Amino acid sequence: MATMTPPVSTAITPSLLPVYKRATMEFVAGAGVELIDADGRRYVDFTSGIAVNALGYGDPGLRQVMQHAADGLIHVSNLFRTTQGEHLADKLVSLSFADRVFFCNSGAEANEGAFKIARRWARGIGGPAKHEIIAIRGSFHGRLFGTLAATDRPNYRMPFRPLAGGISIVERDLDDLEVALNAETVAAVILEPIQGEGGVRVLEREFVRRVRELTQQRQIALIFDEIQCGLGRTGTVFAYEGLQVVPDIMTLAKPLAGGLPMGAILVTEAVASAMQPGDHGTTFGGGPFVATVASYVVDRLSDPALLGNVRTMGATMRGELENIASRTGRIRAIRGVGLMMGIDVTEPAADVIARARELGLLLVSAGEHTVRLLPPLVIGDADLLRGLKILETALAA
Ligand SMILES: Cc1ncc(COP(=O)(O)O)c(C=O)c1O
Repeated sequence: MATMTPPVSTAITPSLLPVYKRATMEFVAGAGVELIDADGRRYVDFTSGIAVNALGYGDPGLRQVMQHAADGLIHVSNLFRTTQGEHLADKLVSLSFADRVFFCNSGAEANEGAFKIARRWARGIGGPAKHEIIAIRGSFHGRLFGTLAATDRPNYRMPFRPLAGGISIVERDLDDLEVALNAETVAAVILEPIQGEGGVRVLEREFVRRVRELTQQRQIALIFDEIQCGLGRTGTVFAYEGLQVVPDIMTLAKPLAGGLPMGAILVTEAVASAMQPGDHGTTFGGGPFVATVASYVVDRLSDPALLGNVRTMGATMRGELENIASRTGRIRAIRGVGLMMGIDVTEPAADVIARARELGLLLVSAGEHTVRLLPPLVIGDADLLRGLKILETALAA
């Protein structure tokens, strides 16, 4: 069902900080996997608000839970207990390896919190020298000072140096990691099981398994950033299940609260036990409104039927992309798992994305020549094929 908002002006106001090159169309409604602009044009959405809108648009259950939650308290602060947040934490613990959860408001905030937890734990083992955080080539972990230092995008980093200290990026190479993972100085390794912004690069199971071995042997915390690839996107609740490698800490955000801002840090008891009252905090984290909504979303995203749909649609998407690649000759590589796919194209990704948008399909890039496909996880055959048909037309144009 479509939700309409009041009419809009056409020019983007100069009052906003100009840090985004925004498309000028304004979406005023959504229904299923489609967004509808102010002129009534409909677009198949293969971006999901950058992996947030896993349930698509106008989901009746999500709307109902939000309406119901709005009748209750919105915020009370973490000075007081919030049973809605406790229920959500219990749910995430029961679905994962973790024993403890901390709620925050975004992906970058979750990762920064994870760095702090890892450092606190490592300090108890090796003293202040054991504080370094290692990230992997191609990583994207956020754009705050700590996470920017762990994000491998020179153009994002350079204007803001000096970045936070004690955080470095190492090649995606086991020999390099063997050397870099010094037991005396390293507190944690952070990696995305599937690098999203870095080009939809699926880390090999053997690579991740070896990193797990090394981190275990050297008492280094392993952090999985599942902010983009977690919560159903790969066809399992968490991407680590597919890898069969379990981290010590995992971060979530994007789809967690159905489009409301929320992040979470999931931690084992062994690591979490280092944290004491006062060691970390945030004003809004895990409030009654957002936690009620997130509980509903987590139930939906862990439903075996939804996960089965992701796997089936993911296989269809891959098969169709292979067909499109051979028919057009415009796709150099196809990568991804489930409904998190990337294609390397033979021209700038921005050109393909612009043409697709004209034709009614929304896409997002992941690097200069990679187009990312992140449809809502509820997508069915007909919409998937319709979107891919538009992609083929845009590629062949
Ligand atoms: C893997 C990953 N980590 C962290 C972030 C940062 O999340 P946020 O934009 O909510 O701070 C993102 C955002 O794209 C992401 O994809």
